[in-house]
This record gives sequence, structure tokens and C-alpha cells, in this order.
Amino acid sequence: MKILILHGPNLNLLGKREPGIYGTTSLEEINARISDLASEMGIEAVCFQSNYEGELVQRIQDAMGVFNALVINPGAYTHTSIALRDAIASTGIPTVEVHLSNIYRREEFRQHSYISGVAAGQIAGFGAESYLLGLRAAVQVVNNSEKR
Ligand code: DQA
Repeated sequence: MKILILHGPNLNLLGKREPGIYGTTSLEEINARISDLASEMGIEAVCFQSNYEGELVQRIQDAMGVFNALVINPGAYTHTSIALRDAIASTGIPTVEVHLSNIYRREEFRQHSYISGVAAGQIAGFGAESYLLGLRAAVQVVNNSEKR
């Protein structure tokens, strides 16, 4: 099983960026933890970060027929991007949306996600752990769909 992990804009600054909200763990450390969990579960996880919306759309399109599921933290594009939503809907790739912070406890503009309506589910508020929970959820979604 192959899972694509996409990190959106500004997540390359994790560790340094607003640590009171996003914690002190760097993106490299998060990716290493994802990779360790993937090995433990006997699956393959590929991580990619971009600050560009079009590049994220392209990666989702390219995932068709290659990856079984997608775990995405769309960053600020969560709240703005119909293009990312359409990419997920168009490819039909099972998607788990993740956020480090609990977006529903924050500013009003963060409380709407364009992605959640096309995702299998959303995990928010557990810091770096959100990604690991997201990976476990994605594996479960794929396993459940194969049983049907
Ligand atoms: C975020 C929440 C978004 O509102 C914000 O723009 C981010 C990070 C999170 O992981 O908590 O960049 O997606």
C-alpha cells in the first residue's frame, strides 16, 4: 500500500513558525516519524511539501493509479482552495485531511474547510500526532474499501 502525504504552504517552516500554535517539531522530524510509522505498518509513505497551489493540484492528479490514499494538510489553502477540493473529487483518491491545530477553536476564517466535504474524514488539533493518526486512518479507509 502506498500513501501520499502532502504538506501545504508554510509548513516547511514548522518548528520555527508560531510554535505556540504549531509546536516545535520541524517538518523533517514529522516526515521521519511518518516514515517510521509507515515501516512499522508495512506500507510505503511518500512525503511532499509545496507552497504552490498548482503544484499540490498536480501531485494529487499524478497520484491517480499510483497511491492508494492521500493524507493532506492543505495549510491556508484549506480555507480558500476550490482547486484542491476539485482535484481530490476528480481523482476520487481516498483522502484524510489533517491539521496540527484545532481549526474550530481558532479565527472564524479558519473554521471552514473546502476540503472536508470531499475527504473521508478530518483530524485536527493533535500537533504532529495528527499526521500519524491521519496515516492510520488512511490505511484503515483503504483496507475497508478493499473488503467491500
Ligand atoms: C493548519 C491550519 C491552517 O489554518 C493554517 O493556515 C496552516 C496550518 C494546521 O495544520 O493547523 O497553515 O493547516
